[in-house]
Amino acid sequence: MISRDTIEEIRNRIDIVDVISDFVSIKKSGQNYKALSPFANEKTPSFFVVPSKGIFKDFSSGKGGDAFTFVMEHEKLSYAEAIRYLAKKYGVEIKEDRVSDENRAEQSEREGLYILMNFAKDYYKDLLKNTEEGRGIGLSYFRERGFNDGTLEKFELGYALEGWENFSKEAIAKGYNKDLLEKAGLVVKKEDSSSDSYRSYDRFRGRVIFPVHNMSGKVIAFGARMLGKDKNQPKYINSPETDIYHKSDVLYGLYQAKNAIRQHDTCYLVEGYTDVISLHQADVENVVSSSGTALTEGQIKLIRRFTENVTVLFDGDAAGIKAALRGIDLILKGGLNVRVVLFPDNEDPDSYSRKVGTTEFQKYLAENTKDFISFKADLFAKESKKDPIKKAELIQEMVHSISLVPNQLKRSIYLQECSRIMEVPLSIINSELNKILIKDRIKFREEETNKGANNKLTFSDIHELSKSFLYDHAKIVQTSEQELIKVMIVNGGDKRSTGDYVYEYIFNETDDVEWINPIHNEMLDVYRGKIAEGVIPTQENLVQIVPSNLVSFITGLIVSKYPISEGWKKHNIYISNEYDSEIAPQLIINRLKLAIVQKMLFDGKSKIKDAQTQTEVDNLIETQMHIEKFKNELGTSLGRIVLESPIGNNS
Ligand code: UTP
Ligand code: MN
Repeated sequence: MISRDTIEEIRNRIDIVDVISDFVSIKKSGQNYKALSPFANEKTPSFFVVPSKGIFKDFSSGKGGDAFTFVMEHEKLSYAEAIRYLAKKYGVEIKEDRVSDENRAEQSEREGLYILMNFAKDYYKDLLKNTEEGRGIGLSYFRERGFNDGTLEKFELGYALEGWENFSKEAIAKGYNKDLLEKAGLVVKKEDSSSDSYRSYDRFRGRVIFPVHNMSGKVIAFGARMLGKDKNQPKYINSPETDIYHKSDVLYGLYQAKNAIRQHDTCYLVEGYTDVISLHQADVENVVSSSGTALTEGQIKLIRRFTENVTVLFDGDAAGIKAALRGIDLILKGGLNVRVVLFPDNEDPDSYSRKVGTTEFQKYLAENTKDFISFKADLFAKESKKDPIKKAELIQEMVHSISLVPNQLKRSIYLQECSRIMEVPLSIINSELNKILIKDRIKFREEETNKGANNKLTFSDIHELSKSFLYDHAKIVQTSEQELIKVMIVNGGDKRSTGDYVYEYIFNETDDVEWINPIHNEMLDVYRGKIAEGVIPTQENLVQIVPSNLVSFITGLIVSKYPISEGWKKHNIYISNEYDSEIAPQLIINRLKLAIVQKMLFDGKSKIKDAQTQTEVDNLIETQMHIEKFKNELGTSLGRIVLESPIGNNS
């Protein structure tokens, strides 16, 4: 049996849009997505995905449900198989429930921790509202910060009484055992040197309580802020790491923010608990915080499940700027787009939003969001303006950040931005980037060699590979053309389920395609001519009706049984039914388009490199992005991930 924890973990990581996009090309429509039903034949889309609810509904077939249901229905899998599929997709390790006692104990212990943390949360919440101390100290503090009742409830804020054992006594009276309190980090154990026994006391005392939720809304930790100004005490005391709390994989506020993040397709990142909460009060709900620890890769991956766009909100002070800079590089490296908003000196998002109010604050966000290049430029503008050495350092600094961006197209856009802002020719900036990339690659290779790993690519391997890929582009286009002609010969006269002939379908689809091979062009012209005369060429009559120079080409094609698909097999592209008149033409046409598009992308890249003016580069990139989008759509409809050329990824 697959463990409940595993299923829970998958559920937390799932993004239904992402799951379904692997099978169906869905289009955004308002806050939802729609597509042609994958379960029925239809002309107008009746298949809907509702990300905020994590469900899909197909009005054609009546099917509907969550991501698990979708995978089961679409892939004809059992529940367990669907779980395995999704676990693999989201990198969740599958834990089986062996019926060993140890296993059961472990699981019930974690279960116990959740229950205890929930109890503690309710306990602290209750104290805030229903005790004199809670109201007088805790609640009045929150009120002073402007938190309203809705906010207190949404974040389940609480208060821990002064005194060493208030919580432990209550919990033990309710039947929770001492060990568990300690494992949950709610009490701290203190060795007593004078005897063998030990004492324990409550970790959180006389502080306001901020519960930390996991993605499904369960409380897994607490942050506790002090109220006075005692210099000898830390401002916050936080839960330690426990079996259910791994700091580096948690973002404060994500549970409350996730739907808004999806809706706005942006996530604001702030420093602390109170910043998150204040933003909610200013009606900005797509906000999370890394809560004191430096942002981690795990946290970036978390954000990535909901959006690719992160906007970092930090104090204008030196520490804030430093944190922002560190965060930016990490976010870029994680493949996300990053923007920055700096607040005036001595203001953070929390103080500023309270100072200026909701409307002004939202306006400030809208007007002060900068991409990271402009952010860096502004930051160093004063000192670098008149000092060429400072300016060079700044460019280095920017290019370094750009080099972390995994996507090549995005990199080239940032390069232009950098060139424009710093008023330095693109070619110079480009070559700076290349230096860094080459250095990185050499370093990577050295590390690999040091690991003593076998079968690793060497530089010359990569070189060879890229050459063969270049060659393949043209070859793939040609092969697809040839395949299409073969399908035309074998199946051209068949009727499709839509009522038209296969040849009609092929002609319609390839109307504006330029064929590489002249003999293919000639073939199609002959075909068109014959059809215009009212004769449908078939395998049998073809040899009699075509000009003699084409006869041997055609016989070659007809005779060869599967010579053509060999080339595809090398690229792991299979079709289930090689010459099924329904599937084959569609597949082959899509593959042809794909091959052509890949070639266009490749050619486009070298054009961008050679471009002379800014507008030229802009236009080319614009075109590239369109082609890229088309390519991805094609890839989806081909039901497989498009093979990326190594050149595309590295250059
Ligand atoms: P801040 O000092 O900005 O705290 O630290 P804050 O939450 O905004 O609180 P206010 O505005 O002073 O009331 C940012 C984050 O750093 C962590 C907390 O997660 C905090 O939210 N931190 C800070 C600690 O963990 N311990 C500390 O002693 C201080
Ligand atoms: Mn603060």
